[in-house]
Amino acid sequence: MSLFSSPFLAKPRKTHIPVTLVAEKNYDSWLAAQSAQVKALCNESGFNPKNAQTLPVRDKAGRLERVFAGVRSPVDVYDLAKSVAYLRKALSSDFLKDASFEIQADGFSQEDVTQAHIGWGLGCYKFESYKNNKSTSPSLVIAKSANKKRIQGFVESIFLTRNLVNIPANDMGPDELEKAAADLASRHKQEISVIRDKDLLRKNFPMIFEVGKASVRRPRLLDFYWGNPKHPKVTLVGKGVCFDTGGLDIKTSQYMLTMKKDMGGAAHVLGLAHLIMTLKLPVRLRVLIPAVENAIDGNAYRPSDILKSRKGMTVEVGNTDAEGRLVLADAIAYACEEKPELIVDFATLTGAARVALGYDIPALFTNREKIADEIKALSAQPEVGESVWPLPLWAPYRKDMDSSVADISSTGKGPAGATTAALFLKEFVDETIEWVHMDVYAWEQNGKAGRPQGGADTGLRAIFAWLEKRYGQ
Ligand code: BES
Ligand code: ZN
Ligand code: ZN
Repeated sequence: MSLFSSPFLAKPRKTHIPVTLVAEKNYDSWLAAQSAQVKALCNESGFNPKNAQTLPVRDKAGRLERVFAGVRSPVDVYDLAKSVAYLRKALSSDFLKDASFEIQADGFSQEDVTQAHIGWGLGCYKFESYKNNKSTSPSLVIAKSANKKRIQGFVESIFLTRNLVNIPANDMGPDELEKAAADLASRHKQEISVIRDKDLLRKNFPMIFEVGKASVRRPRLLDFYWGNPKHPKVTLVGKGVCFDTGGLDIKTSQYMLTMKKDMGGAAHVLGLAHLIMTLKLPVRLRVLIPAVENAIDGNAYRPSDILKSRKGMTVEVGNTDAEGRLVLADAIAYACEEKPELIVDFATLTGAARVALGYDIPALFTNREKIADEIKALSAQPEVGESVWPLPLWAPYRKDMDSSVADISSTGKGPAGATTAALFLKEFVDETIEWVHMDVYAWEQNGKAGRPQGGADTGLRAIFAWLEKRYGQ
């Protein structure tokens, strides 16, 4: 199964249909310049580009001749996903198999055209590798006026992230996650190094080992680099809990059901890394993924166990379901040892972040207030259009994790669970290093155009936009 599979065509097919972008902002002047026939069609159908509506135009013989695709100004990344959703419904799969489409966007900027293509690509995303009957997407030939590398970078990265989350845990354990990371590294001509099983103890990653030791699928730490060593060091750390049963503090069935997505942080980090490497951001990139399964067994770690961490601090296990922060703590401490300029971690860390912000908005924590402002502002720009919201690293809550028997407890007492988890991680971050922690859901709950229900990218584009602004030439 390809984790990247491109929805784009290299060559047009027999029936090749132009898709004309129609901008909301100059709709009136656009309409005035159209033929009487098109004017009538637009007026009678109530076509309104503002809502990213799609309008098929047929010739006298009744054949599809062109498509008008309304877009906002600037183009929203999901505008064309709506057109794809429309075309899937309006046209038969037999027709779609023989047809190809091409975006025509005279008068649009390259950014807008590129964004439209990305939206079309995302609109084609479906997770159907386990289905015998697969659906057909309308295929697009990338227009010459678009930035092809950028389109491919975004679409492949997001497909990769979603596929990794969607593949069920029986086929996405630590072994398979390792293979996905190794394949990605080798695609970009890098080699991965992996510390497995008992070597985690020998090399001092006790908490990664403890969390993962109950599973027959052994725990490990994945690690690869990319880029010029002279460039600023940026380390991405992703929570790779391939399935979270909760451990001995077992989850109820309702909450366990979606826990194949508990490696969503790792999936985001791999997707983001692919984007950074494809678009050659001038950074020295490092990717660290603790890959484990939080399983139940006679030898599973227990609530009240006291673990030694890589950093030396002892941790009392408050709840075995708070496993993500333990594996991340050792990985983050390790990341800090080589003093990168920036660490960004992604993790499906707490249910509390969802209570605070719902499913769609990732919670952002950082040890630099300025960064919170920058990312929040950028994420709300229409070019990015996926909000990320800062929550406080409220130091007074640190005492909620005081333990009478260890240096810290893994869980707090108060209701601000996302903050407690972030404060726990902060204990393992070197203060001199800028650090961003993204508590993400990695799941689309309801399904929208271009975001089918299931594994989802949440905050990946926002963080990339920020990195690009910070490091891009
Ligand atoms: N993976 C979960 C967090 C989670 C649950 C994210 C549901 C998204 C949706 C994490 O390992 C966990 O179970 N956290 C506990 C922590 C608690 C025991 C302190 C939680 O959030 O309930
Ligand atoms: Zn858990
Ligand atoms: Zn978890």
